[in-house]
Amino acid sequence: MKKLMAANWKMYKTAGEARTTAASLAVLTADTLPDDREVVIFPQFTALSPVADALRHADGYSVGAQDVYPAAEGAYTGEISPGMLMDCGCTWVLTGHSERRHIIGESDELAGAKTAFSIKAGLNVVLCIGETIDEREAGRLGEVLERQLAAGLAGVKGDAVPAAIAVAYEPVWAIGTGKVAGPPEIVAAHVLVRQLLVARYGQVGSAVRILYGGSVKPENAREIIALDNVDGVLVGGASLQADSFSRIILA
Ligand code: 13P
Repeated sequence: MKKLMAANWKMYKTAGEARTTAASLAVLTADTLPDDREVVIFPQFTALSPVADALRHADGYSVGAQDVYPAAEGAYTGEISPGMLMDCGCTWVLTGHSERRHIIGESDELAGAKTAFSIKAGLNVVLCIGETIDEREAGRLGEVLERQLAAGLAGVKGDAVPAAIAVAYEPVWAIGTGKVAGPPEIVAAHVLVRQLLVARYGQVGSAVRILYGGSVKPENAREIIALDNVDGVLVGGASLQADSFSRIILA
């Protein structure tokens, strides 16, 4: 199973800036990307085609979108379909990111509809889940992960798993705060996610990649990706500069 090294560029970078960063990354990791790693860049929508173009010849690199709507086309003002994303060179999409859940108000069910529809349409999905600090302090970690995972995977059958799906555990309190979850907290949450995946899909669930996200940096990436049940990382702030993200990719 290859480690998935993913960059979520959120609402940063113009199309031109994104293209330049992607091209620099490809140069910095050319010939040094290990066989057991793959990289996915998630830029904002207008940068998808330019980034896909910049990475066209970069082995081991793919492009993904940060959001999608669960319909092929129609009167959904402001939305975008899986087919339109694939037309821009995307092979991946993020669903259920905590910024969409907590800032935009997306429900568990909508994240699930996006996940199922995208997989049926042929995209690979990183489904993001994670607890707030209040939920953690109230001892509700297990309940929150179980609820988000059950709703997020509600329409995903075992035969689509594990090739098309990865789960990112991103504790909300560790995103953009500089507070990285410690190794025991990461391992405990990832074991829980693994158990939930195996309970749902049987042995197939043991091959689903589980990524960690939340203040991953070049300085802590090596330790994090070596932990049990950590099959990659989803990086925000430290993925915005090619030099910094290349050090994470190669950590
Ligand atoms: P930071 O790496 O900036 O904490 O963001 C994590 C994240 O939200 C990735 O999706």
